[in-house]
Amino acid sequence: MAGRPDEGEPGALSPCHGPAFVLPHGKIELGPAMPHKVFLTRLKLTDFRNYAALALDLDARHVVLTGENGAGKTNLMEAISFLSPGRGLRRAAYADVARVGASDGFSVFAAVDGMEGPVEIGTGTAGTEEGQSRRLRLNGTPARTVDELTDHLRVLWLTPAMDGLFTGPSADRRRFLDRLVLSLDPEHGRRASEFDRAMRSRNRLLAEFRPDPAWLSAIEREMAGLGVSMALARQEMLGLLTALVERSQSDGTFPSASLSLAGFLDEFHVVPAYDLEERYLAMLQEGRSRDAAAGRTLDGPHRSDLMIRHREKDMEAERCSTGEQKALLVGLVLAHARLVGDMTGHAPILLLDEIAAHLDEGRRRALFGLVDGLGGQAFMTGTDKSMFSAIGDRGLFLTVANGRVSG
Ligand SMILES: Nc1ncnc2c1ncn2[C@@H]1O[C@H](COP(=O)(O)OP(=O)(O)O)[C@@H](O)[C@H]1O
Ligand SMILES: [Mg+2]
Repeated sequence: MAGRPDEGEPGALSPCHGPAFVLPHGKIELGPAMPHKVFLTRLKLTDFRNYAALALDLDARHVVLTGENGAGKTNLMEAISFLSPGRGLRRAAYADVARVGASDGFSVFAAVDGMEGPVEIGTGTAGTEEGQSRRLRLNGTPARTVDELTDHLRVLWLTPAMDGLFTGPSADRRRFLDRLVLSLDPEHGRRASEFDRAMRSRNRLLAEFRPDPAWLSAIEREMAGLGVSMALARQEMLGLLTALVERSQSDGTFPSASLSLAGFLDEFHVVPAYDLEERYLAMLQEGRSRDAAAGRTLDGPHRSDLMIRHREKDMEAERCSTGEQKALLVGLVLAHARLVGDMTGHAPILLLDEIAAHLDEGRRRALFGLVDGLGGQAFMTGTDKSMFSAIGDRGLFLTVANGRVSG
């Protein structure tokens, strides 16, 4: 793995701020109207982690889950994260999600007041053969792919596992970035997996003694098309998020982030998409013997890194203090949630795991105000109920103990 590219001088223009950058959707107008509220009205879990069977009736209020460590709070959040495509907030193997001792996988059922009206969502591995994939039913009818979930709700989360985002491996930031994109552009996931498949074919082909040049070229052309559209989708999302952050008046509670991409076609904000494809194609062709020797493809969207700076301090996020990093991450997730609300007209469901732990009273109060201002339903966890008292009657307070939930 190459190291992270140099950030440049403080104050250097990132691609997000380049004068030639154009937002494809033009300016987003922040209308006075709040986004429509999407919320869970019922949640049922069967053989999910430490829940043998759970049924919860919910309403439009936020949900505060408190209980001791190991009670099952994060498990419940994880179950809700399965109402979005992918492997959920722990990115766990499905076999680990099914309750130990369960005979037939896990299932999650939710009734949602969704983006297209009320919908019943059922998902899980129960009834599947080897528990490798999960099935989805919408109003009782099997869905073609789990991507269809994004027609009904968007789920965003912030968990303690993300605390190392700024200092950890670039793959984590890429995944974070791609989840941000996916929540606005559900096609992004398909493009990414098709790109991966094509890249694996190319790597296998390059390992052969004399690879078929026509086949190799065809695969590289496919990679060029997919790779450039992935890069553009990421750049577009960053541009929209940047525009939103710049327009929002930060009260300083949570710092704002400047975001940019580095590591793949960094100059692309000045080059038309078609030229980018040709450029990437040429990089692949020229890189064949190098990539064959390396045993992998060294250029592509799988090498991009998300560069994050603390905007007010004008400092790389990775050099900020742990507390500043947490605050920056909270600000970033809140800004993204707002963007999703603005772009889709529907506020996303927010999962904020252990959110209150590192914030003082004033910041907690500010956070609850900001979360509430997003107009969606949020699920928040903590060990101590009193930390959430500022939410008052805007929240449904539930206690979790030993895989059981009580009011
Ligand atoms: N597949 C599983 N089957 C049964 N219990 C599980 C499974 N996976 C995790 N657990 C249990 O769930 C508990 C952790 O729950 P978690 O939601 O992370 O707690 P917390 O309330 O601290 O967030 C642990 O006791 C763990 O052993
Ligand atoms: Mg937890």
